[in-house]
Amino acid sequence: MAAGDPSSQQRLRDQLVTALTVHLRAEEEVVYDTLSQRPATAGLTLHSYREHDDIERLIGELRLVDPGDPALHGCVERLRDTVVAHVHDEEHEFLPQAERELGKEHLASLIPMFNARRAEIEQELATQAALGSAPSVPPGWDALSESHTQS
Ligand SMILES: [Fe+2]
Repeated sequence: MAAGDPSSQQRLRDQLVTALTVHLRAEEEVVYDTLSQRPATAGLTLHSYREHDDIERLIGELRLVDPGDPALHGCVERLRDTVVAHVHDEEHEFLPQAERELGKEHLASLIPMFNARRAEIEQELATQAALGSAPSVPPGWDALSESHTQS
């Protein structure tokens, strides 16, 4: 994350966290859920879920770093590297296998469902933010946050 004032860094961090959270959840609910139920793609889907877990853990770490803290840059770099590796795996392994299993039309039919669910999740997060409630986070984030604040 480029140097800047802490409020800009916080805004960028929050945008990054929200965008990734929305994408991960929608993908899991629409795409991974479909493919995890098929024996031919269950193993590869489990691998993708685990990569999402790694991304979510790094997002949790990123959320714990104060804007302006020099550690923020390293957190963002680790997150970026993990996301890039995951996207590579999805593009070169997961999606080709998904297309072989489901067929091109069925796989393409998931795209509008994914986009609709993504829009719903974005709205849910925006509503929570407007109400001032704690942002909804993936499983494990709360526990990670609590373990860091209690020590
Ligand atoms: Fe993914």
